[in-house]
Amino acid sequence: MGLMPLMPLVLGLPVGPAPVVLSRRLRGRLVVVTGASRGIGRELALRLAGVGARVVGVARSEDELAALARRARALPGGFDWLGLDLRDLAAADLAARRLVGRWGAPDVLVANAGHSIHRYLADYTDRFHDVSRTAGVNYTGAVAFALPLLAGMTRSGRGHVVAVSTTSACLPLPGWSAYTASKVAFDVWLRCVAPDLALAGVATTTVHLPRVATAMSAPTAGRWPVPELTVAQAADVLGHALVTRPRHITPWWARAADTARAAAPGLSHRLMQTLLAVGVRP
Ligand SMILES: NC(=O)c1ccc[n+]([C@@H]2O[C@H](COP(=O)([O-])OP(=O)(O)OC[C@H]3O[C@@H](n4cnc5c(N)ncnc54)[C@H](OP(=O)(O)O)[C@@H]3O)[C@@H](O)[C@H]2O)c1
Repeated sequence: MGLMPLMPLVLGLPVGPAPVVLSRRLRGRLVVVTGASRGIGRELALRLAGVGARVVGVARSEDELAALARRARALPGGFDWLGLDLRDLAAADLAARRLVGRWGAPDVLVANAGHSIHRYLADYTDRFHDVSRTAGVNYTGAVAFALPLLAGMTRSGRGHVVAVSTTSACLPLPGWSAYTASKVAFDVWLRCVAPDLALAGVATTTVHLPRVATAMSAPTAGRWPVPELTVAQAADVLGHALVTRPRHITPWWARAADTARAAAPGLSHRLMQTLLAVGVRP
């Protein structure tokens, strides 16, 4: 137990909204959550269906999504799902078009599906697929799926896109190159289109989450003494984003690291090099 309930505050993140507040914002709204089959996306999808949102969950694991739909029958909202491999760009585009055709333009897209790989350069010089697999889910597939939804949202003149990103985007580390580059790519893409979307009435939020205890982080669990959120706490932060619609949610320490790196790039490079030289492999 210990500090765990206070972890969002310790890490500089907002606490979640009360269910009644989330419900006021999202009851009856169509919310698309990618990566809804497990982890943060699953927790968020259940929570949103619990406050009355009409959720459409997207992922590859159809059995998991169907099980979630059965569980959501008892909830006031609804849960429908689409089985999709985001790395299949043509399928992602088609699925998003069909989604708009069937359910209409979403009120909210939570771009949450993600794939992470932790590997140092020397271990992947013969594995370009590390780069294409992470980019396929985190960047190109995420954009291919988002575009038809954004077309629908801008036509309807309203909506909100929430990108689930990582504090690694503010603090690039040697072992996370393929993953971080693909997450930053989506962040920057969204930042570029955000003003256009805002003019069309569509809000955008990027949430930089720290480490969260999920299947994604399990392979590197215990490697470093890094504090982490539970999936419920991560869903709280996303709930806050859905209610308040800020441009971004970034812990203060990640913002400070980003600013320090921009202000003194040589110093941060030498610091990282020194860490590697003494055997610290972040
Ligand atoms: N866990 C962390 O420490 C952490 C920290 C910061 C940010 N994040 C971000 O949080 C988001 C959720 O991560 P998580 O920790 O909940 O991970 P997770 O438990 O591994 O869940 C990832 C989700 O993405 C889906 N997905 C993966 N590849 C896909 C593909 N090719 N096509 C469609 N869906 C795919 C998975 O479903 P299927 O396998 O069924 O397709 C699953 O539902 C990610 O964007 C991640 O980058 C995580």
